Amino acid sequence: VVKFRKNYKPSPYLIKNTELIFQLFEDHVLVSASLNIESNPKSAESVNLPPMELDGVALELLEISIDDKELSDSDYQLKQDLLIIQPTTAQFNLQTLCKIYPQKNTSLEGLYTSGGKFCTQCEAEGFRKITYYLDRPEIMSAFSVRIEGDQQKYPLLLSNGNPASRGDLTDGRHFVEWHDPFPKPCYLFALVAGDLDCLEDEFTTMNGRKVKLELFVDKGKLDQCQFAMDSLKASMRWDEEKFGREYDLDLYMVVAVSDFNMGAMENKGLNIFNTKYVLANEKTATDADFEGVERVIAHEYFHNWTGNRVTCRDWFQLSLKEGLTVFRDQKFSEDMQSKPVQRIDQVKIIRSAQFAEDSGPMAHPIRPDSYIEMNNFYTVTVYNKGAEVINMMHTLLGEAGFRKGMDLYFERHDGQAVTCEDFVRAMEEANDVDWTQFRNWYSQAGTPLVNVKLTQLGAGQFHLDCEQSCPPTPEQQSKSPFMIPIKTGFLDAAGNSLKFKVEQGDWTDEALLILTENKQSFKIECDAEQIIPSLLRDFSAPIKLAYEYSLTQLATQFASDPNSFNRWDAGQNLMSRLLLSNSPTLSATDKEIVEQAFSAILHDEQLDNALKALAVQLPSLNSLIGQSDKVDLDQLFNKSNQLKQHLAKSLEPVWFSIYNTLAGDNAGARWLRNVALSYLLIASEAQYFELAANQITHATNMTDELAALQVIAKSKNGFESEYVEQFYQKWQNEDLVLDKWFSAQVLNEQDNVIDYIRSSLLEHEKFSIGNPNKVHSVISTFSANNLVQFHHASGAGYALLADLVIQLNQINPQIAGRLATQFNQWKKLDSNRQTLIKSQLSKIISIDALSNDVFEVVDKSLKM
Ligand code: ARG
Ligand code: ZN
Repeated sequence: VVKFRKNYKPSPYLIKNTELIFQLFEDHVLVSASLNIESNPKSAESVNLPPMELDGVALELLEISIDDKELSDSDYQLKQDLLIIQPTTAQFNLQTLCKIYPQKNTSLEGLYTSGGKFCTQCEAEGFRKITYYLDRPEIMSAFSVRIEGDQQKYPLLLSNGNPASRGDLTDGRHFVEWHDPFPKPCYLFALVAGDLDCLEDEFTTMNGRKVKLELFVDKGKLDQCQFAMDSLKASMRWDEEKFGREYDLDLYMVVAVSDFNMGAMENKGLNIFNTKYVLANEKTATDADFEGVERVIAHEYFHNWTGNRVTCRDWFQLSLKEGLTVFRDQKFSEDMQSKPVQRIDQVKIIRSAQFAEDSGPMAHPIRPDSYIEMNNFYTVTVYNKGAEVINMMHTLLGEAGFRKGMDLYFERHDGQAVTCEDFVRAMEEANDVDWTQFRNWYSQAGTPLVNVKLTQLGAGQFHLDCEQSCPPTPEQQSKSPFMIPIKTGFLDAAGNSLKFKVEQGDWTDEALLILTENKQSFKIECDAEQIIPSLLRDFSAPIKLAYEYSLTQLATQFASDPNSFNRWDAGQNLMSRLLLSNSPTLSATDKEIVEQAFSAILHDEQLDNALKALAVQLPSLNSLIGQSDKVDLDQLFNKSNQLKQHLAKSLEPVWFSIYNTLAGDNAGARWLRNVALSYLLIASEAQYFELAANQITHATNMTDELAALQVIAKSKNGFESEYVEQFYQKWQNEDLVLDKWFSAQVLNEQDNVIDYIRSSLLEHEKFSIGNPNKVHSVISTFSANNLVQFHHASGAGYALLADLVIQLNQINPQIAGRLATQFNQWKKLDSNRQTLIKSQLSKIISIDALSNDVFEVVDKSLKM
């Protein structure tokens, strides 16, 4: 069933209070719910008291009564996933008792078990797997929760808010009661029960309130918790300083579980996290993992205001909280880490994954118009493009204006469930601007393309002509022009920054051009003969921009654009141009241009190591495909190998000297040094294998250990390597490190990798199809990052992915749906590959008991 945004109607009933009692047992759980229900004054139903439909999935209803009177079978109806009652008064209390089976719940949605503990994931629509309820985010209710369970097995019984009372029961059981004073939608409900270690700390808010912080992890993992705790305190401080937002409960808990569908969940006062985003110390986690922990801890914390205090009216508004919260975690990371490096990382996600989504069958606006399965819309479009849209607002309004808008948004909507429109209006009204056209970013899908041309009119007089277009997407054939902020500078032929004037403006070295028309021309005054435009600085809008630079101009920009982001981007642009051109091979001059540009970068003493590491990496195959309409994969693989080989060999002494002289004593240095190592192994596996072997043996941190493992596992004898085996022996009891071990192996590009994955990795005793992290480290990593083998002309890579989608369809539909999106780029490929993928898609769509999740993705893909 397709749900449409335009069909939104307020719920005819509200739930003022929710009282839940959970009785935990070894093969089931009893849930009793007592709901104080009122008819909704805002709902204009034709009948005074319409039937009330409560959501419920896989529940065994044992008892039901209204106002303490038991209902007879004719008083209610159980339909597919619905309980229907006919209220007779405008206010009443509904009591139900349901039996559920969390131990058998492999969907990891609702109440389930992971590693011997009970935990929950209710967003988006998982609460209906716990009890009958109005499972929609605009229903905000005050929750009181009582949990009863075995004292020994579950010494900890946690839920949202503050603990109210606790005590012993008979049979070695005990209970804890919780009360959450903040009314909330049921998707923010959480329960955890188990025996866990706890790291405790305290935070004093800006108004001097003391908040207890508790981080719960599996026994024995306390030595991997400190970084997450520090990140939490840093996030709490940052939100106070940047946005004046203070935490509101006396207690903030974070629990880490191994089996989790996403990164983490912002349940009020009780975040539940994938262990991947909590556990980290130098021995087990890479520098990139540390950044991930810091980012996700911050993201979930920031949701307390953008998501929980102000929540979404309906799920079409998801970007209201996710786009905004991603924007906030990005700004936080920029403050904690290097700003340009963070920006480059953000843009890489947009150009590879989001542009791909925007040009495929699942393309949707950041505020979708329809969905079959909401879980399929937790996408890079809603999250990351959503954040880019907020970032454009920030660019247009400036820091202070943006803050004024945020303040008004909180002032107006605290405690409410609202829409994206409410957010835009707060920004608009706080700053007295008209953003009618800006709203197109919310309603139109697809990636706008801006073509830019520069013409010289006379001495020092230029025209910058811009023309925008946006390709059709499913359901949207033609698009209105977007409002596109283009941050611009100009360089002279030597790469120096130039002063210029736009129209009647002041002299400046950077200007924000705002494109609103389909075609628009900006008059530029600049005292120079030859000028090189530096466009879309800091990626000021989520668009593709085309300008016909000469290769020399790109090289100049790469060597010296004062905007670090654009400097990196010029290099990417230069290489993309060569790799995506029609010619089947790279010319000697092409290779030399890149070689010289790399050499200049590597010898630049002003440039920091992390930026160097980024600059000398080829654009990923995913971003090259993401940016193209059609792609000749074989040619692309070939040319990118040629270029890598050339850069590895021609700069061999430089890589070697970086490897030997850089002390790997900070993250940037380790990164660059490990990039150098990978080039050395491309230059000669035989000659440099020893370096990697030595590094994996003596590494004192996971960043270096993993980098060495990766090059070894990718090498010719990777599958039989003793070092790969030793790594396994060393880390076999460290689940998250094993994920890295699996991933490193699936990136081997030799032809037997698919057999190896099927016969060794998927059959491995440490592999588990029920654990999303394991599935991602093997299958997603393979299909998203080993493109040479995933797209093997035999179709074996496609068959592997399809088999896993089919296998997971019943076990964990959400993960299955997500995997199936890996086929979505098929229209860009050659006809042989198109046929192969289509036949896998047809195979998937014809299986029995196909989940909504997989159906929606595959059906849209086939209809493209
Ligand atoms: N709200 C969570 C976050 O971004 C993600 C929850 C995803 N849930 C899902 N069913 N897809 O922080
Ligand atoms: Zn989020």
